[in-house]
Amino acid sequence: MARLMIVTGAGHGIGAEIARQAAAAGYRVGVLDVNGGAAEETAQSLPDAVALVASTTDSDAIEAVLDDFGTPDALVNNAGIVRFTPLVDHLESDWRAVVDVNLNGPFVCGRAVARRLIAEGRSGSMVNISSINGIAPGPNSGAYSPTKAAVIQLTRQMAIEWGPAGIRVNSVAPGIIDDGMSAPILADPEVRATRSSRTPSQRLGTADDIAKAVMWLCSADAEYVNGHNMVVDGGVVHTVLSGMPRPASIDGIAEEG
Ligand SMILES: NC(=O)c1ccc[n+]([C@@H]2O[C@H](COP(=O)([O-])OP(=O)(O)OC[C@H]3O[C@@H](n4cnc5c(N)ncnc54)[C@H](O)[C@@H]3O)[C@@H](O)[C@H]2O)c1
Repeated sequence: MARLMIVTGAGHGIGAEIARQAAAAGYRVGVLDVNGGAAEETAQSLPDAVALVASTTDSDAIEAVLDDFGTPDALVNNAGIVRFTPLVDHLESDWRAVVDVNLNGPFVCGRAVARRLIAEGRSGSMVNISSINGIAPGPNSGAYSPTKAAVIQLTRQMAIEWGPAGIRVNSVAPGIIDDGMSAPILADPEVRATRSSRTPSQRLGTADDIAKAVMWLCSADAEYVNGHNMVVDGGVVHTVLSGMPRPASIDGIAEEG
């Protein structure tokens, strides 16, 4: 029987690519999205996939989904949203919406799946999608960075509590990805070129880069990896000192001419 994987927010962007790679790896994939049309579109493009229409924040809806689809061997908590504005102008409703989807959603879905796996005496794997914003806060992005930092810590909390039951939980922190919610930002050619050239790997990331990391963490090759936040960003999060100048003489750089 095929192993089961649920990918949340798989109607679009990074989640859709994770669902595609999971199907290619032989999983029967539950394409979960609050946007029913998007979930259907992704599911129909894959060999063995079903659309699961629910919000990750709705416990009752998630229980109903699990009753129908079955308990997955792997869960990818990928659904996430962002609302840009300076903190001083940030609406409380936006703050709460972002906390609900980005932090409460992985808890609701993770807990529901863990409870079932434990009751059924089965092992499993979960991957939560965090972000480099969980390490280095992005300006004017409200609750996004705080929720992503919390997802990294939630991952560790899940790992220590569920590890003894055979459930591994890790997170993947994407950098600047040329897909999904970053598309409107990268549509500006100047922003795109700058973001690419300031990345040590000299390119933007892709949904494929993220999906490969997720698939590896779910695989048996990662059986001793638990509670880890895997940063997949071409090195960009480590560039904090790159913009800080030093006199060329101290750096040992010969002057021109
Ligand atoms: N794109 C990037 O550059 C980037 C970088 C770092 C981290 N991430 C993270 O990757 C994940 C995927 O982002 P993306 O760029 O593919 O976004 P996206 O906006 O393209 O896709 C997100 C999907 O999640 C769905 N969704 C939103 N709220 C939901 C809910 N409550 N329940 C179920 N589905 C819901 C949306 O309908 C959408 O299909 C997010 O967690 C995001 O924070 C993205």
